[in-house]
Amino acid sequence: MAKEHFSKIGYVLAVAGSAVGLGAIWKFPYVVGQNGGSAFVLLYILICAIVAIPVFLAELSIGKLSESDTVNAFKKLTTKNKTLWGYVGGATMLTAAMIASYYLVIVGWVFKYLSISLSSLPTALPSDMNTSKTLFMEFLTKDWLGQLIFFAIAFASCIIILSRGVKSGIEKISVWMMPALFLMLIFMLLYSFSMSGFIKAAEFLLVPDFSKIGLDSLFSAIGLAFFTMSLGMAVIITYSASLADGTNLFKSTISVVAINIAVAIIAGLVIFTFIFEFNAEPSQGVGLVFMSLPTLFANLGIVGNILSVMFFSALIFAAITSAISIIEPFVFFLIREFHMSRTKSLVAVGSGIFILGVLCIFANIEGIGEKYMLFGKDFFTLLDFTAEKILLPLGGIGGALFAGYVIKKEAIYTLFRPYMTDWMIGVWYFLVRYISPLFVLAIMIYMLFFS
Ligand code: PHE
Repeated sequence: MAKEHFSKIGYVLAVAGSAVGLGAIWKFPYVVGQNGGSAFVLLYILICAIVAIPVFLAELSIGKLSESDTVNAFKKLTTKNKTLWGYVGGATMLTAAMIASYYLVIVGWVFKYLSISLSSLPTALPSDMNTSKTLFMEFLTKDWLGQLIFFAIAFASCIIILSRGVKSGIEKISVWMMPALFLMLIFMLLYSFSMSGFIKAAEFLLVPDFSKIGLDSLFSAIGLAFFTMSLGMAVIITYSASLADGTNLFKSTISVVAINIAVAIIAGLVIFTFIFEFNAEPSQGVGLVFMSLPTLFANLGIVGNILSVMFFSALIFAAITSAISIIEPFVFFLIREFHMSRTKSLVAVGSGIFILGVLCIFANIEGIGEKYMLFGKDFFTLLDFTAEKILLPLGGIGGALFAGYVIKKEAIYTLFRPYMTDWMIGVWYFLVRYISPLFVLAIMIYMLFFS
């Protein structure tokens, strides 16, 4: 099978596309605001430096040195316990597919709101908070058909992109969607300069307040860094298997971190300008994107329409480039391991994800979701909990320990030396062997038992 490689910029944008997603846009800004503004951004950068970047480089080296799918990557690079490590790789890949299912359900909701923003002028968006809440809750708990249709649109978009392969699919879409996302955010940022809420937003996000930094902030920073950098889920391993020789891997990694932070801060400034301009409550996730923001856009007339279309399109671009990255690892595995065609692999993986997605949709539907609860949790919540709180940290620890202890040192040095000094590689070894796994283990225990 001919191997496809990303171009240098294509790799950075594809990985940045994976990184920048719902995490950066709807979680990061709020967590920053709640945890002492730029004091938290500094903490996040520190955590990126000592936990996320080392794990990222670990996963990158597993991918690049093996040039294989995640399962065979682990198997190829060890002489002992091949089967066990193969399972570790397989587990991360499955985790990714699990996350893809409910991630795409959420992307479907974004498509729904884009369609509302486009549907009538001046606006069909709800203009007060109560109407907005009712609209969203009815959609979530009653309108399974609507959710199914929009989920199918999100799902189909990803499958179509992935069917075109690494270069003309993943790379091509990232190379235009990422700059487009950036331009839309910049446009909205310029618009928000004209509003008085901007000063408050800047204060909320940027003025450092170190008194708000506590143990909780530390754990939030680790969790956020991991999720937003797409670690622990076979994504970086898979994308790095198609990394072209001669790509500066250290610079690429730093660029991805920088793009992620820049997007998150710009998105945060925009979102909170609106929130403060209209005296709304700063919140995160679902409430922010599907309840507060639509009402604020609705109050701005035709400009609100434009901003709303732009905001939801930007969110779709960010989320689609992330969603394809969590579907690809499994697809890549089937292609490599069983020599299946890309189309057949997509059908196989896609069917699994589609079924899980449908189960996630019905999990929220009144009168149906209650019927298949497990451990007191509905299916959607359970999937999210298992994947993000248990499997994802374990996958990250597995990758770090594997690169730190199992891969031959000479191989790592040969790979890193053109771009990093021996001293830097030494520091990386120390972090990846001792510091990163411990931090990740700590957050896992904390999230499971104390939060
Ligand atoms: N990084 C993406 C986000 O922030 C989500 C994601 C996680 C994508 C893990 C791939 C792997 O939304």
